[in-house]
Amino acid sequence: MRHLTTLFDLTADDVRAILARATELKALAAKGDRPAVLKNRVLTQIYDKPSLRTRLSFDAAMVHLGGESVFFTAQDAGLYGRESLADVARVVGGISDAIVLRTFSHTTIEEFCEWAPCPVINGLSDDYHPCQALTDYFTVQEVFGELSGQKIVFVGDGNNVAASLAILSSMLGLPMTLACPVGYELNETIFAEIRKCYPDSQFMYSHDPMEAVKDADVIYTDVWASMGQEAEAQKRNAAFAGFQVNAKLLAAAPSTCRFMHDLPARRGLEVTDEVMDGEQSIVFLQSENRMHLAKGVLAWLLEA
Ligand code: CP
Ligand code: NVA
Repeated sequence: MRHLTTLFDLTADDVRAILARATELKALAAKGDRPAVLKNRVLTQIYDKPSLRTRLSFDAAMVHLGGESVFFTAQDAGLYGRESLADVARVVGGISDAIVLRTFSHTTIEEFCEWAPCPVINGLSDDYHPCQALTDYFTVQEVFGELSGQKIVFVGDGNNVAASLAILSSMLGLPMTLACPVGYELNETIFAEIRKCYPDSQFMYSHDPMEAVKDADVIYTDVWASMGQEAEAQKRNAAFAGFQVNAKLLAAAPSTCRFMHDLPARRGLEVTDEVMDGEQSIVFLQSENRMHLAKGVLAWLLEA
């Protein structure tokens, strides 16, 4: 039995298998074919933070594949205090075929995995967002026709999304730059783990976004204040003021460069309307692909 808590749980071959399954299922769906490979299977989703894309993509993926999805807030599931986390994990895991968890602390997911007798998928924690990064490289592969050499320049905070993209790009041998203000780099433990696991990693830092995007195939950004960091928003808005993805920054990149954002976006802060809605933006393909990737992850984890 496998879990997907962080991308460190996967090998490059695992990633290629998940992307291939998602590609196959997306092609079938385009022909109106939704094979019921998860018929009668139950996915339980427990979330401690809001979600549109992640929750909907896993719900829809289960419907398309013939199964069912059940949702609990962390409060309703009793994750914090009604009973022990270990007991919740054993109860939910005993009844479900797979679980998606969205938490603040990543250790909640790790502890849950110790006790859950079925696969657990991280649907976002403060530190990681693996399904998002898998979707993003799935989308890059679809748009550019291949992954080889494709460079993402992430302009913004070294947060859960940036960290997951950094792990995946390093694992797959792809170049990636994080252009961020000093002090907003990746979590040091995750950065050290990337260096240890992938000594040939081409992940780099820059503090100059205009320079960093010069050879970008993709410019990617995310919110400056993630869920749980709302109290820091003012300070962060000031720190990131020179890191907005706007028409001027996009013009500094090659004309073939695409724009990506995991969403939700704070239009007018990390990205302008003209970039979000412009011809180089692939953000809504990216959000649709969350579902196709969710299918690939579920089918792969459940060996269906
Ligand atoms: N990108 C993403 O995970 O969106 P939600 O927070 O809406 O799930
Ligand atoms: N970094 C963002 C991602 C939201 C999908 C957050 O954690 O709020």
